[in-house]
Amino acid sequence: MASSKNNTMVFLFLLVTLLIGSSSAQLSTNFYSKSCPKLYQTIKSTVQSAINKETRMGASLLRLFFHDCFVNGCDGSLLLDDTSSFTGEKRAAPNVNSVRGFEVIDNIKSAVEKACPGIVSCADILAVTARDSVVILGGPNWNVKLGRRDARTASQGAANSSIPAPTFNLNRLISSFSAVGLSTKDMVALSGAHTIGQARCTTFRARIYNETNNIDSTFARTRQNSCPRNSGSGDNNLAPLDLQTPSKFDNNYFKNLVNKKGLLHSDQQLFNGGSADSIVRSYINNPSSFNSDFVTAMIKMGDIRPLTGSNGEIRKNCRRRN
Ligand code: HEM
Repeated sequence: MASSKNNTMVFLFLLVTLLIGSSSAQLSTNFYSKSCPKLYQTIKSTVQSAINKETRMGASLLRLFFHDCFVNGCDGSLLLDDTSSFTGEKRAAPNVNSVRGFEVIDNIKSAVEKACPGIVSCADILAVTARDSVVILGGPNWNVKLGRRDARTASQGAANSSIPAPTFNLNRLISSFSAVGLSTKDMVALSGAHTIGQARCTTFRARIYNETNNIDSTFARTRQNSCPRNSGSGDNNLAPLDLQTPSKFDNNYFKNLVNKKGLLHSDQQLFNGGSADSIVRSYINNPSSFNSDFVTAMIKMGDIRPLTGSNGEIRKNCRRRN
């Protein structure tokens, strides 16, 4: 009798340990409060001056966090340059000639290392930088959970297979987010990040020339003016993801979708007669619900498989392991 009670206790203890261990219980919003009290002001001022120089940089920095977290978790792996022993993620298809802002991260890392050497991970710098970018461009604020450590390796293959493509339809978008524990609502809210920033002609050419359903024809023609039909010409010409307010973090991205003016095929999939339509409508009718769902989803995305405790390392230089 006593032993079966003991067994039950052991079982419950293991269950609780497992449950706590499988979420990212180790991340906390005050992780560096003693070890690096100037962290937030150090990061914010560097992000602010980068955005003052070029507004688009805020968008580019937000995207870095997404492309880091979706590939084996938020572990700074995206930032590693290629070495002789592995090919990094920077040259994976979704990233090459596309992700940008690495020099800004270098500047932030140098400033942080000066303030508190060897303490703050590159993965955490990405998380705070993403939040600061959103706030500076007029979006919501939140407390960022910290305590991630940096990966010692990167995976080009995982970057190719884990980051959703702009050609995806709704089902594939939903499953690529659910593969990292994010819901359809999280997916729609996070896609609202396309309220800022730019995309290259090659990522939306097929939509503006070949799609007839669910694209406003005047919008398509306008975009065609600076994105030639044939690939190889004008591939890197840019267009704003939110045609109304590309430098402001607001809910206009969702209004564009209802007007059939989503730039990417994947954007318009969120309002195409399917299960996401009602979420898009709710973010138009109630902008504060977009803000709060975006924050919830950013925190959830930041919780994807962090390295904590004695796993990984605190890189000195975000481009290479120690
Ligand atoms: C839902 C699936 C998503 C797809 C298919 C997608 C795809 C893309 C593509 C193709 C571009 C343009 C890249 C280029 O032209 O080189 C882009 C830009 C961008 N994406 Fe996404 N994205 C998605 C979700 C997200 C999420 C979750 C975030 C952040 C939370 C995000 C943030 C951004 C930002 C801010 C830009 C503009 C970057 C800049 O101007 O430098 N995206 N995305």
